[in-house]
Parts: sequence; structure tokens; C-alpha cells
Amino acid sequence: MNSDILKNSISKLKEEKDAIVLAHYYVDGDVQEIADFVGDSYYLSQKALESDNKIIVFCGVHFMAESAKILSPHKTVLMPDSSADCPMAHMVTPKEIKKAREDYDDLAVVCYINSTAQIKALSDVCVTSANAVNIVKNLKEENIFFIPDKNLGQYVASQVPDKNIFSNDGCCPVHNILTKNCINEAIASNPDALVLAHPECSFDILEMADFIGSTTSIIEYVSSSKHNSFIICTEVGILHQLNKEGKNKNFHLFNEQQVCQDMKKITLEKVYNSLVSLEPEIHVNNDISLKAKTALEMMHKLA
Ligand code: 13P
Ligand code: SF4
Repeated sequence: MNSDILKNSISKLKEEKDAIVLAHYYVDGDVQEIADFVGDSYYLSQKALESDNKIIVFCGVHFMAESAKILSPHKTVLMPDSSADCPMAHMVTPKEIKKAREDYDDLAVVCYINSTAQIKALSDVCVTSANAVNIVKNLKEENIFFIPDKNLGQYVASQVPDKNIFSNDGCCPVHNILTKNCINEAIASNPDALVLAHPECSFDILEMADFIGSTTSIIEYVSSSKHNSFIICTEVGILHQLNKEGKNKNFHLFNEQQVCQDMKKITLEKVYNSLVSLEPEIHVNNDISLKAKTALEMMHKLA
């Protein structure tokens, strides 16, 4: 089927089956185009919670669909390719959480939403890149074990200096690969460009950035900026929306490695197949789901 036929068929199936399609900015542009809502992790998790459709088709990686299922257990949550997974979600262990809880009495375990349900179930509150600083600032605990992204953890620590914030050794391989050298080269070739960075980048990069924020905040920044040239320190999929919002603006990426291969596993054809077969469906163990829900709901309450 060509992509126009696929898009039409998806749109009919969505209506027939009472399904809503949610897509992250890192999936391919043609998948973003058939989505009912496109956004950052926080926005998508809000939409999953608010929607009254029977079916949610999540075009993103596993932790996103899993979080939607945890927040709305009565809904059918489909993932067009259930092998699309975020490597960082698996970079912290229950043992590390247990050890931190033993080491500190006054401790909050703050878990980036990019984590497995099992890890969320052991945490006090979830956060996303859009709300991590505010949520951590408002926690009563002084010691914060921020998991599983040491880069976002270090960024939050720089914004909330009065707390003792420490992390495990995890990071996003797509963002962590960006080096000071690549940014310096990009600045040398585009001296008028502003550097916009996602807080999953390493702290050296964040120190060079003119703006730091979630995918949505980066897009909003470009839309309202008078500048017309930007060095983009995040995943390539964001360009689809940036090119729409920032017509006549120039965006510079570094290399072919700014690609999240897992996000790219979601294709139009798989979205179509998933709506036809109502598979693969996401299931979460009941006990884990109930505990993880508390941490996710706490995020929605505090954000
Ligand atoms: P946000 O879209 O929430 O900024 O997150 C980026 C990301 O890496 C999602 O996996
Ligand atoms: Fe995970 Fe990084 Fe891909 Fe986001 S971009 S899903 S954090 S690997």
C-alpha cells in the first residue's frame, strides 16, 4: 500500500475502532502526520490519561505505552512495534535503589519517565524533562536519587543547588554521543546560530547551550524566537515539527548518530497492522502497575 492509501485507511480504522493515535516527536514525520496528538513525554502521558477512546495506539517507545497502560488500565494500549524500547529505561537496577534507601533516611527516589514499570514501582515520583526541575524543587526530602539519567540528574542538580542530588550511571546513547567538539565545529560553521539542547545531553554541552528544554520547549522556543538559525542538540525527528513551526529558519544537526533507532521502528504500515489486528497489546503485571501508578500520579499532581 502506498503511504496515502495507508494514511486514509488508518484514519478510517481510528474512527471505526474508537482509537486515538499518540506520537512522540522522534518518530518518523509521516507517522507524526497521522497522529491525533504529537508531543513530548509529559504531554503524551497527559493525553493518554484524559482520552476517553477505548484504544490508544502509542507511536513511541515501550516505556511510553507502558505508562499509558498503567495510568489507564481499562483501555487497550497498542504499540505498533513492541520491540521499540528505550535502552536507558533499563540502566538502573532495583538493587541500586535499595542501596540508596539504606544509605539515606531522608531520601526521595525520583524516576525519569524513561524507565521500566518495575523501576517506577520502586520510586516515589516520576518526572519528565519538562517538569523535573520544578518537581524536585518542591519535594520535602533533601536527598534525591535521580534515576536512570545521570545527565538530566546533573542538570536538575545545577538548577536545585540546595539539595543533594545523585544518580546511577545511565544516559541516553543518542544524546550522550554529542561532544563539545561537534558543537564547537557547528558554532564555527554557523556563528550566528543559537544552541538549543535537550537536558539528556551531557553537562559540557548544556553549559554551551543558549536554551535547554524538553522537545516541546525547544519547538516553542524556536516559534517565538526572532533568530533564524539554530544548532539542535537532540534527536533528528524533531526537525519535522521545527520545519513546520519555523518556516524560513535554519536548523543544524551534527551527524547521522542523532537518530533513535528504536523510535524509527514505528512505521505507517505497522500502525495500520496494529489497528487491524489490535496487536501488539501492552500488558503490565497488576502489582507492579498499581505501585508504578502511584509514582506517575504523583507526577501529574505535582507538575
Ligand atoms: P521529551 O520529549 O519528554 O523531551 O523526551 C525526550 C526523549 O528522549 C523521549 O524518549
Ligand atoms: Fe531513549 Fe534516547 Fe531514544 Fe529517547 S532518544 S527513547 S531517551 S534512547
